Amino acid sequence: MALVSMNTLMQKALAGRYAVGYFEAWNMESILAVTDAAEKTQSPVIIGFGGQFIGSKKRTITENIHHYGQLGKAIAETVNVPVALLLNEAHEVDMLLKGMDSGFNAVMFEGHDISMEEFIRINRQLVKIAKGRDVCVEAEVGKLPDADIASDSISDGKKTDPDEAAFFVKQTGIDALAVSVGNVHLLETGKAAIDFALIKELRKKINIPLVLHGGTGVAEEELKEAVALGMCKVNVGTSLKRAYLNSIQEYLNNNNVSKMDPHNVIGRGGNMDMLCAAREAVAKEVERFIKIIGSENKA
Ligand code: 13P
Repeated sequence: MALVSMNTLMQKALAGRYAVGYFEAWNMESILAVTDAAEKTQSPVIIGFGGQFIGSKKRTITENIHHYGQLGKAIAETVNVPVALLLNEAHEVDMLLKGMDSGFNAVMFEGHDISMEEFIRINRQLVKIAKGRDVCVEAEVGKLPDADIASDSISDGKKTDPDEAAFFVKQTGIDALAVSVGNVHLLETGKAAIDFALIKELRKKINIPLVLHGGTGVAEEELKEAVALGMCKVNVGTSLKRAYLNSIQEYLNNNNVSKMDPHNVIGRGGNMDMLCAAREAVAKEVERFIKIIGSENKA
């Protein structure tokens, strides 16, 4: 199926009182795991990659965003459920422009270290370019805190101010607004305290789809409640990488791979292949979230 606009997926979700999931991938198996789960559950889905990871300054090998965009687009075109392709949270505008050229039909710029005026200017420019290409633009007003698993601590964030957010939406013309309502990025230990009153206030003042990032750290019942209040896109990342890591760790703990044919462990795809097992583990986690946010059978 050809790529579908992220806006179309979100508007349908809003009308149907469910949310569409953005499940952040990092390689071939992980992105296929997302579409495996979406096809199995007949759910619309947003696939994609994190710009802050693909473009991270810590990378020892520089990645080419074109490879990721083309991979995502090719996968979307061969599955039987509606798919949008998002280049999420990139710190460089240039990467987002290249992403649009490479097949992504949704983009998000992350600019927490710049002034509001500059953030508006950049998003307005992105929207102008994106509109002519059928690309959606998402942006966040406020700031999610980040959890740090090593120190079991959470950084400071800033909840979304409804008036500031309404002003930003009006000034920029973005398609989707990510909000900070108690949700926390990367949270694996404990659960975030979601501010439902703030979601209600935001829904009154903002007339575009609202997005809840940090899906990993939101309890099941709270996710359902947030969706019922009109949150129509939910982002999930960390729990997918955790499922992948746990699967590989379990495999290595239980098998003496030095005595095994490496092709059976990597690449043959049989029941000895640890990367297939990891893909299945990620798909299972995606399926779990799809059921919680209610997008099953909404393809
Ligand atoms: P988590 O990694 O906390 O699930 O958040 C993902 C996310 O919000 C990506 O934008």
